[in-house]
Amino acid sequence: MTQYVIDGGRPLIGTVLTSGSKNALLPILAATILYGGPCEIHRAPHLSDVENLLETLRYLGAKTRFCGDVITVDTSALNRYDIPAEYTGRCRASISFLAPLLLRFGRCSVAYPGGCAIGARPINYHLEALRALGNFRIMENSYGVEVQGTFTGGYYSMPYPSVGATECALMGACFSPMPCKIENGALEPEVEDLAGFLNACGGHIFLENGIWQSEPAPFSAHTDTLRYSVIPDRIEAGTFALAVAATRGEGRILRCNPDHMKGVIRLLAAAGAEVVGSKDSLYVRGRNRKLRGCDLVMAYPYPAFPTDLQAPACAFLATCYGKSAVLDTVFPMRYAHVSELGKMGARVSVARAPGGERYVSIVGGMFRGGRGESTDLRAGASLLIAGLCGKGRSIVLDQGYIARGYEAVCEKFRGLGGRIWENRIY
Ligand code: EPU
Repeated sequence: MTQYVIDGGRPLIGTVLTSGSKNALLPILAATILYGGPCEIHRAPHLSDVENLLETLRYLGAKTRFCGDVITVDTSALNRYDIPAEYTGRCRASISFLAPLLLRFGRCSVAYPGGCAIGARPINYHLEALRALGNFRIMENSYGVEVQGTFTGGYYSMPYPSVGATECALMGACFSPMPCKIENGALEPEVEDLAGFLNACGGHIFLENGIWQSEPAPFSAHTDTLRYSVIPDRIEAGTFALAVAATRGEGRILRCNPDHMKGVIRLLAAAGAEVVGSKDSLYVRGRNRKLRGCDLVMAYPYPAFPTDLQAPACAFLATCYGKSAVLDTVFPMRYAHVSELGKMGARVSVARAPGGERYVSIVGGMFRGGRGESTDLRAGASLLIAGLCGKGRSIVLDQGYIARGYEAVCEKFRGLGGRIWENRIY
C-alpha cells in the first residue's frame, strides 16, 4: 500500500515533462514478438504495468533490458506460447499477446487479463476479430482462452471501436497472406503508434477514410536492431493540465502533443482557463481566471473527450463555479472516484439521466484536506488533484494503481511546487 501525503492549497506553477505513452508502449512491447529480433523502444516510462509485460516477455523466452528510458527486447529465442494467470492477472494489456503469439506459433493459451476495476472488460471483440481475419479454433473456459490456427486476411466490421480489439486485429492483419480491412476500428493515437511500429517491423498497414487496411507482408525474423520511439502520454499530459488549472496555477506541459489533446483543451477553454498549444507543449493558466463548470462533458472514443481523463476532469470541475455533469459512455461504471472525491470536500454524486444513463453531477466549490482511497489508476489521479487543491493535509491511499500509469508522479508535481510525498506502508 502506498500513502500519498499532500499539503495542498498552493497553485501549481512551472513546467513539467511528459513521459512516453503507457497505452502506446504496452501493445508495442507485445508486438516486439512480431519482429523476432532485437528492438530498442525509446521514451519508455518506468511503470509497474510496463514491468509486468517485460516479465511476461521474459517468461515467454525473450531477453529484455530497461536502461534509462530505453527498453531493449529480443524475442528471437521465444519458446513458449502460454501465459498463466499469474502474469495476465496484473495487467489488462496482457491480452495484447494473443495475436503476436498466434503469428509466431500458430497457437496460444492466455489466461483472462486482470487490470483496473473500471467495469466489465470482456474480450469478445478480440475473439471476433480473430474469427473474421483468420481460420481459428477458439476454446474458452473459466481460466482463459486457447486458440489455434492462422491469419488468412479478411474483413471485420467492429461493433464498437475497442482500442484493444483494434490493436489485436492490426497485429493479426500485419502479416496476413491476404489483405485485411477493419471498419469502425479505434482511431486513438496509441493505435496509430502501434500501426507505425508494425510497419517498422515490415507490415503494410494504413488508414484510409477511417478504415484500417493492410496489404500482405511476409513474416520474417530480423537480426538488425529496430529502433522506435513511443508518442507522448496524452493522458498524463492532460492530467497535469487539469491539475494546474484546478489549483489555479500556471504551467507549461512540455514534450506533449497538443494535437492529441483536443478533448481536454476544449474542456479547459470552455471552463475559462487560458490554454495555448504549440508544436510540443501546452501552456495552461487558471491563475486569476474565474473558472465555471460545463453543462455536459461526455467521454467517447477518440477524438472526443477520453475516458481516461474523466475522473481527473471531475476533480477539476469540482473547483469550478456552478454546475457540471460528466458522463462516461466508454466505461459507464467508471465512477468509483466520486464517493472518494466527496470525502475530500467535493459536492459530487452519481445521478441518473432520464434515459437511465449514470453520470456524475457536480456542484463547484472548494476541496478541503481529507482522506480518500484510490480504486483505479485514473481515480487515483483525480484524488491527487483533489489533495493538491484542498487547503490542509490530505492522504490518498493507493494499492499501487497510480504507479501503473504515472511515472514519478510526486517528483513531477513537486517540480510544479506541489507538496506531495509518497510513503510505502507494509
Ligand atoms: N469491450 C467489449 N468487448 C471487448 C473489448 C471491449 O465489450 O472485447 C468494451 C469494454 O467493456 C469497454 C469498451 O468496450 O466498455 C472500451 O474498451 P476498449 O477495448 O476500448 O479498452 P481497452 O483496450 O481494454 C484501452 C486502455 C484503457 C482505456 C481504453 C479506452 C490500454 C492498455 N488500456 O483499454 O486505459 O481506458 O482503451 O480508451 O490501452 C488506463 O490507462 O487507465 C486505461 C484503463
